[in-house]
Amino acid sequence: MPTLTYPEPITASADLNLGPLAQIPLGEGRNFMVRGTEIAVFHTRQGIYATQAACPHRQGPLADGLIGGTTLVCPFHAWKFDLTTGEALMGQCGLQIYPVRVTEGGDLRLMLIGNTAPTCAVPAGEEIGVDQTPVGSATGPADAWAVR
Ligand code: FES
Repeated sequence: MPTLTYPEPITASADLNLGPLAQIPLGEGRNFMVRGTEIAVFHTRQGIYATQAACPHRQGPLADGLIGGTTLVCPFHAWKFDLTTGEALMGQCGLQIYPVRVTEGGDLRLMLIGNTAPTCAVPAGEEIGVDQTPVGSATGPADAWAVR
């Protein structure tokens, strides 16, 4: 999935305009390069969420993950995260999250709070438990999407 480039000149403000929400289809995520930090923004029925772009396990592309409600599943090894808090629901490390909102004009505004993504050292070769519990159901929220 392509990374969208931050469309606004860098200023001293930390409240940054990422452009229109419409560039992220409902139920999907997109990556933005913001001041040298890649950030994934997710457009769900429950709200808009922003996290670090790379999974803390093995750098999986979180914007390509599976979403059910406010749960994000990494497409590589199925670690699960709560998009509202960044908490790890399955896996050893949580995510850095960023405050994000939508203006009345429909633009995404991101509060860049520094490059403080939590580090997570998972020893090479460590077995990863994969939880096969579905994150949604056919009758559940309609914003789940398949990994591409
Ligand atoms: S890279 Fe995300 S779970 Fe392994």
